[in-house]
Amino acid sequence: MSELDKVTLNAGDKAVALPVLKPTLGNDCVDISKLTKETGLFTYDPGFGATASCKSAITYIDGDQGVLLYRGYPIDQLAEKSSFTEVSYLLMNGELPSAAELAKFEDEVTHHTMMHESLKAFLQGFRHDAHPMAMLAASVASMSAFYHDTLDLQDPEQRRLAAIRLIAKMPTLAAAAYRYSIGHPIRYPRNSLGYTERFLHMMFEVPSEELELSPVIAKAMDLLFILHADHEQNASTSTVRLVGSTGANPYASVAAGITALWGPAHGGANEAVLKQLAEIGDAKNVAKAVERAKDKNDPFRLMGFGHRVYKNFDPRAKIIREMTHKVLGELGVNDPLLDVAMKLEEFALKDDYFVERKLYPNVDFYSGIIYKALKIPTEMFTVLFAIGRTPGWVSHWLEQQVDPDARIGRPRQIYTGSPKRDYAKA
Ligand code: CMC
Repeated sequence: MSELDKVTLNAGDKAVALPVLKPTLGNDCVDISKLTKETGLFTYDPGFGATASCKSAITYIDGDQGVLLYRGYPIDQLAEKSSFTEVSYLLMNGELPSAAELAKFEDEVTHHTMMHESLKAFLQGFRHDAHPMAMLAASVASMSAFYHDTLDLQDPEQRRLAAIRLIAKMPTLAAAAYRYSIGHPIRYPRNSLGYTERFLHMMFEVPSEELELSPVIAKAMDLLFILHADHEQNASTSTVRLVGSTGANPYASVAAGITALWGPAHGGANEAVLKQLAEIGDAKNVAKAVERAKDKNDPFRLMGFGHRVYKNFDPRAKIIREMTHKVLGELGVNDPLLDVAMKLEEFALKDDYFVERKLYPNVDFYSGIIYKALKIPTEMFTVLFAIGRTPGWVSHWLEQQVDPDARIGRPRQIYTGSPKRDYAKA
């Protein structure tokens, strides 16, 4: 952290003192909110690599040190000791719950897991082969139609209830989208099960036989949800905040976040990883794929490698890597694609191009592999990311609603089009 209280910007013959804001952790920030008024200048930062869009007390990342904290707690401690519902409570409320508070929270979430029966008819409007991310985004957006009577955003209790509904119903909607796409009956949530087991039950139980859930699978899935739960101002969370900044309701805001998550540069990478592994096909083709990724004339990139913020290692990837090897061992999985993945990991970790650019396997690289080992269909990978990220999205939306600095998000641009000209027929 620097000792500066302000920085001075010389704009022609005018010197402007810009205040420096101090975070509790991380880089100081130059407050440029008055810059345009004082100088007429805008700032240019495509991809927002150096721009803080808000103040937030939820999550902290130090990309150089590979640190990720939820409300101050290191991710590795939460991964080892906590559960996804406890982490959801923590993100939303700022503190870890007591046993009684957690039981009450879990009970409330459990009793909001059912979806409106009309949503089934809504899902049936989709083609059978619709991508579940499209169905999830649409059904979450449609929740604003089902709960329009509790959308008074000035009422803290209605805001909290919307957040609980989103956390509670996301797995139900996700599993329903999947079941519809494979022509299986949609299962109702079972209150006797915990959050993650209930989701797996809705995904995999068939009416003809009892589902025996492996505790290894449920534990691995819960851990993956914890690791995905929040990641400060990533593209989908920033989207939730941008939509939320207009006063749009939380279901519309989170539905927008889901669509932002879908892209292969963000949450869609876990699906893209598996597709790419299938294209590589065999461990003997890995060297060629790595060469292609290094070729600047080839747009091919290794999916699941690199990160905007982590330039050392992704602490989530470190935890999942261990989990992946453990799960593969415990389940006795033998899959040629996993051999390709392990070979790719080995190659890229020692290749100069990747080492110099600090391109490490990221969370999506391992999550794709682990989901495959757990027999989760590839199109569902990003949907699982969405379930995990929901507590983060709703916590940011809740925080934004009471942020005294919050204004509608409205970036500027550098116009590069034609100067003003008079209309004339071509
Ligand atoms: N394969 C090959 N080269 C790469 C890769 C890759 N996966 N990622 C970055 N590079 C190179 C890039 O060409 C550039 O090289 P040079 O300096 O020679 O021009 C350098 O590394 C820096 O890359 P960048 O594109 O400036 O980095 P960025 O911060 O804008 O992008 C990223 C980050 C994650 C979008 C990018 O690394 C990428 O496309 N990775 C593959 C997709 C992926 O795995 N996404 C999941 C991200 S983690 C989870 C999440 O956020 O959802």
